[in-house]
Order: sequence, then C-alpha cells, then structure tokens
Amino acid sequence: MSSKILIIGACGQIGTELTAKLREIHGVDNVIASDINTRKLDLVNSGPFEIIDAKNFNAIKDCCKNHNIDTVYLMAALLSATGEKYPMEAWDLNMNSLFHVLNLAKGGNIKKIFWPSSIAVFGPTTPRENTPQHTICEPTTVYGITKQVGERWCEYYNNKYGVDVRSIRYPGIISHKAMPGGGTTDYAVEIYHEAIKNGSYECFLSENTSLPMMFMEDAIKATINLMEAPSEQLTIRSAYNLSAISFTPKDIFESIKNHLPDFEITYNPDFRQAIADSWPSSIDDSVARKDWNWKESFNLEAMTTVMLKELKKKYNP
Ligand code: SER
Repeated sequence: MSSKILIIGACGQIGTELTAKLREIHGVDNVIASDINTRKLDLVNSGPFEIIDAKNFNAIKDCCKNHNIDTVYLMAALLSATGEKYPMEAWDLNMNSLFHVLNLAKGGNIKKIFWPSSIAVFGPTTPRENTPQHTICEPTTVYGITKQVGERWCEYYNNKYGVDVRSIRYPGIISHKAMPGGGTTDYAVEIYHEAIKNGSYECFLSENTSLPMMFMEDAIKATINLMEAPSEQLTIRSAYNLSAISFTPKDIFESIKNHLPDFEITYNPDFRQAIADSWPSSIDDSVARKDWNWKESFNLEAMTTVMLKELKKKYNP
C-alpha cells in the first residue's frame, strides 16, 4: 500500500522539488502539498493542495485526519539570515511546527516524520574540516539553535515514545526551480541566475569562504533514500551529517567562467559572512554512507553544467 503523504512548506526551495518527486513515486493524489499561502501557483495547481500555517496544530491535525496521512515532511522554516532579523519568529515557527508533528506521531495520528536539520547546528568551536557526526555543536545563529534543539527533541521522541522521525543536516542546496529564501548559502544559487541574466554578480561572502553544498537532485535522493531505509538500519535519530561538494565563491565563479568567459564577480561581504565563518567547510558523512548507502552524484562541474543549461532555457526560452 502506498503512503499518504503531507508536505508542509511545499512552496519553498526544497518543498517544490520534493513534492514533484514524491508524486512521481507515490501518485499525485497520495501527496498533499501545503503552505501558508498559494504563492506558487504551478505547484498549487499540480495536485492536492491545502493552506496550512505550520504553527497551527489543529490545521495540521485536521489535514492529516481528513486525508488519512501517515507520513509528514515538515519543510517550513525560517533560515539563518532571516532568523537573525526575526529571532522570535524563527524560534516560534521552527520549534512549534516540529512539536506539532512530533506530538501527532506520539499520539498515533501519523507514523513517520521527515524534518530537516542543517550544518547550522555547528558553530565556531566545531572542528571545521571533515566535521564528524558527533562533535561540539555550539551554534551562533537562532536558526542553528532551533535546529540543534530540534535534533535533541527528535532523538528524545524516538527514544521515549518510539516516534519514527528521520533527519539530515542539509548543507547549502543549489537548484534552478524555486529560489532559496533567507539563507547564508543562497549566494550559490543567485550567482547562476545573475551570470545568465546580467553577466556579473556581487557576492555577499568573501572569495575564499568554503562551505558544504549539494545539488538539489542529490538532496532529494538523500531525503527519499533515508525515508525508505528500514528503521532498524538507522543509528542516528537526531540528524545525519550529509555531504557532497565543498567550494568557495571563487571556485563556483571559475566553474561558471569556464562556460561564460565574460562573467565577472565582485565581493562585498555583509552580516552573513560571520555566519558562514562559524560553519564547517567540509563534512564527514560516513555514518550516512554506512547506514543507508548515501552517495552523491553531482560534483561542482556537473552541477554548473545543469544549472546554466536550465537557467538559459528559463531566461532565454
Ligand atoms: N541553507 C541554509 C542557510 O543558509 C543552511 O541550512 O541558512
């Protein structure tokens, strides 16, 4: 029997592509997309859609009941840069939405949860290179604090109540469909759009800031593989380290320049530089590789080729 799935925050960067992939796998009618508003009309019109404020427990509960939902992907969140501007809103949304779905699972209303964590759980005292699965986590951002605390609660609900919750510490995610919103790694998406649209980009991080990143196709594959893995194979119920590529703004600039020789970049770091400087530059994800056979498919060059090809179609159809 196919799962009946609810995606909360389906109009966001990851939600958009996750919805499409899950509908391919489980059938359109078995995947209910939801978001706080109908801002993405193509997604709203592509299958069942509900307006849900992730902070509203009853709205989530009613939707799960009405559609016989067994699995929830909770993708709604305020990210690192926006969280610094609106700390209390980030805490409110990121924590309460998680408690809502954890409590629904504890009460037997749903069976399985995916909740994304992030490299933002790490901080300046974390080893920066090849950051281990189990290490010091002293995040400096509100977003990072919500993810770190969320990981503890996920593990607690799994230990105490047997809740089947699964999570990944996503690195920066790069995609050509929906734009990311309010993150520190967003430059790695903006740069491709500006390269195609304007031939130049002003980067808000300095040229040698190395961060862990991943192409969307890999992020979706990882998410679905983790959710499909047999429960007994999973040794981490906080969140798995996950890595694919690490690069700097200079690396991505050069990779684009190989395709667009006239492309130019300037660097003008803002408040996001301090956030980036507090995060790892590379991640040890050997536990994910061992537990559920994680392996990425895209390196920087392969990703640049796809991004430029797709964005050329988008801007010069
Ligand atoms: N992409 C996120 C951010 O930059 C990290 O999880 O906030």
